[in-house]
Amino acid sequence: MTDRYSPTAAAIERMEQPPITTGRLLLRRFELEDAGEVRQLADNRNLSKMTLNIPWPYGAGVAEQWIGTHARNWTFRTSASWAIIVAESQTLVGAITLTWMNRSTAELGYWIGEPYWGRGYCSEAAGALIQFAFAELGIERLVAEHLRSNPASGRVMQKTGMRQVGSARRRDRYRDRVDMDIFEIRKTPPAAPESETG
Ligand SMILES: CC(C)(COP(=O)(O)OP(=O)(O)OC[C@H]1O[C@@H](n2cnc3c(N)ncnc32)[C@H](O)[C@@H]1OP(=O)(O)O)[C@@H](O)C(=O)NCCC(=O)NCCS
Repeated sequence: MTDRYSPTAAAIERMEQPPITTGRLLLRRFELEDAGEVRQLADNRNLSKMTLNIPWPYGAGVAEQWIGTHARNWTFRTSASWAIIVAESQTLVGAITLTWMNRSTAELGYWIGEPYWGRGYCSEAAGALIQFAFAELGIERLVAEHLRSNPASGRVMQKTGMRQVGSARRRDRYRDRVDMDIFEIRKTPPAAPESETG
């Protein structure tokens, strides 16, 4: 039997984490020097409360530790994070991450610093990363979840072509129960069922 992944998989495994450019943005890997800006943006209660995994307060050293995991996570394709940079001003405004669930499925996560909300940056970054993941990383399916109390994130998912496929009740970091809406997008959309009258 042919291994349908073999040629692509070998190339993907050798690949350095590449930058991605969009109309206004550069997505690039994080450098340790970004830690101060990351902390400045991420140490924000309004941002933290919309996520399951960003702590608040966002302590000293958290950003350095997080960035310090990136090279290994890319090498082993556990996860990959890109800094979202506004190209014109070279301003770091957020982060976007893929976390592999298996070889062909990954979860998408992101945040944008509050001063930069509502400018379309997240939708632009997510749309580009979805295309890149399908074209270059061998990913066939991307999933994403948002707190039901965070409609802005749901809107980003809709705008990038994701569709809601379910919901779930999870525990947040305070062990409180929270309702999540689950979205996905597939590289090859499933064929529409044939019309019965057809
Ligand atoms: C969610 C988040 C990433 C969105 O980033 P952003 O760059 O502001 O997103 P965009 O500007 O690309 O799009 C936001 C969309 O949500 C809409 N929106 C904003 N607040 C909304 C609300 N309360 N209800 C409904 N829609 C809302 C905006 O109008 C926009 O849609 P539009 O372009 O159709 O007008 C950002 O708010 C954030 O980082 N929040 C905190 C962390 C977080 O939620 N991360 C995601 C966890 S799943």
